[in-house]
Amino acid sequence: MGNTMSDLHKVTLQEIRQKKDASQKITMLTAYDYPSASIVDEAGIDVILVGDSVAMTVLGYTSTVAVTMDEMLHHCKAVSKAVHRAFLIGDMPFMSFQVSPEKAVENAGRFIKEASMDAVKLEGGKEVAASIKAIINAGIPVMGHLGLTPQTATKLSGFKAQGKTAEEARKLLNNALLLQQLGCFAIVLEAVPARVAEAITSKLTIPTIGIGSGGGCDGQVLVYHDILGLFDQFVPKFVKKYMDLRPMILDAIKDYGSDVVNLRFPEEKHTYHIEEDEWRKFLEAFGDEER
Ligand code: KIV
Repeated sequence: MGNTMSDLHKVTLQEIRQKKDASQKITMLTAYDYPSASIVDEAGIDVILVGDSVAMTVLGYTSTVAVTMDEMLHHCKAVSKAVHRAFLIGDMPFMSFQVSPEKAVENAGRFIKEASMDAVKLEGGKEVAASIKAIINAGIPVMGHLGLTPQTATKLSGFKAQGKTAEEARKLLNNALLLQQLGCFAIVLEAVPARVAEAITSKLTIPTIGIGSGGGCDGQVLVYHDILGLFDQFVPKFVKKYMDLRPMILDAIKDYGSDVVNLRFPEEKHTYHIEEDEWRKFLEAFGDEER
């Protein structure tokens, strides 16, 4: 991992598919703004998702339900400006694809035309099949999302694992096969028991990307703020924290405040100077030669 300028070619749909065929894992991570996207891209992650998780991690909403198309596009635009290599996916927010297939195509199109995304992701199976089909027919690649679908968590009776009974697991498999048949290029499986996710993965020719669904998926996705320890209000069991940044940032900002109050900042090296003769001319014009 880690890019040099020479390998900054754009990841393609074909390469994502080939990774499954070659049993190579696909890496995916969220990003929501220019600096985070630029770091994720430089690290060599294959796919960047501008997830509707931005609602909670960045915008302060209590769930993903409230985030709007305009808010999603605002973040997607910043991300696409930073990214040279990774495949970019914009997450369709709640109610942007359910109302009608026409509305779904219109909104999916905005992710591509206005925010330079390569594809869209949307949550759901059979119930949103008509919208998925219409978007794909319009020439826009779609990533599906099954299992725990946070936009409809209320219907699923909360944020809990899905597919834990034989009947639920069968339903998940049928939905995954349907999404593949509709033409989705990959499917996120969220909070699905590892054995069920592995079985679904083996039945599909398109890749599965797991989040809380074990190591048997073709790839993994996590949320940027979760792996870096930037969001501590709710950390799901499936998150691996690679850093605990929030307390580090907190300490740094406290140090800054204290330096300002105690006259330790700015120092000489942080200060600009005016040449002596220019200073004198300024004082003359100012009528204050005493300084
Ligand atoms: O919004 C999001 O971040 C997601 C992923 C975590 C799959 O949908």
